[in-house]
Amino acid sequence: MLNTIFKQGLFNEKVALITGGGTGIGLRTARELAQLGATVILAGRKLENLNKGVAIIEKEGGKAHTVVCNIREEESVRSCIEKSLELCGTIDFLVNNAGGQFPSPSEMIPRKGWNAVIETNLSGTFFITQEVFNKVFEKKGGTVVNVIANMWKGFPMMSHTGAARAGVDNLTKSLAVEWAKYGVRINAVAPGTIRSSGLETYDPAFKQVIEEFGKKNYAGRMGTEEEVAAAIVFLLSPAAAYITGETLKADGGEWLYSHLIAPEEHGKMAEWKD
Ligand code: ADE
Repeated sequence: MLNTIFKQGLFNEKVALITGGGTGIGLRTARELAQLGATVILAGRKLENLNKGVAIIEKEGGKAHTVVCNIREEESVRSCIEKSLELCGTIDFLVNNAGGQFPSPSEMIPRKGWNAVIETNLSGTFFITQEVFNKVFEKKGGTVVNVIANMWKGFPMMSHTGAARAGVDNLTKSLAVEWAKYGVRINAVAPGTIRSSGLETYDPAFKQVIEEFGKKNYAGRMGTEEEVAAAIVFLLSPAAAYITGETLKADGGEWLYSHLIAPEEHGKMAEWKD
């Protein structure tokens, strides 16, 4: 059994679509939702990761499906929602967790890399949310949680993702206002420095910078995938019925505490490799 403070059966009959659901925070969220009774659809680019996620959830007694989806591509998003509806008949929850970025001094970010990050983290998030709204939520309402980042003081060395996540923070408010009349709630979670599977994709010098930075918050440690998932599950739950257009920081107070990664550390961070 997973650690959860929510009551068993809370999400019986609910269907949750989680982008980037095969790994990290997305998978941890999917596991918790499934344990609480939801049927989860793991969406992502790599079927192998999605299948591994489904195997974990099924072993825990949950119901899970996979849909291969690249949120950067219009046709892929359209067919992802179509397949989800074929599989489960409806969607109640959308967790926009898929994202990607790479460290680089801003003056060296190539257009292709910039566009890739914006198209995934900002545009991909917008267009899959729009598709779910048009196909499902417009008629029956629904709940969305966007996963963003601690970019409140900028995001040096990853300016592209900072700009994209700030965009999603703002989008969260616009959509919450526009779609409230359809019964849609939309919120965001802004994780701080999390010990997630994504950390392992960074090169060792950069990872070390993150390890040190991860202590600079009022918990004195990095957060866990479980702690971020709990915030997402809370915002999806009836406990958050009166909350919309809000961004919940799950960061140990990092945004209040910390200085940004010091400029003298920037040289240790990897550069974009095409
Ligand atoms: N995870 C990271 N990038 C993604 C993308 N473009 N589509 C779906 N999941 C992703």
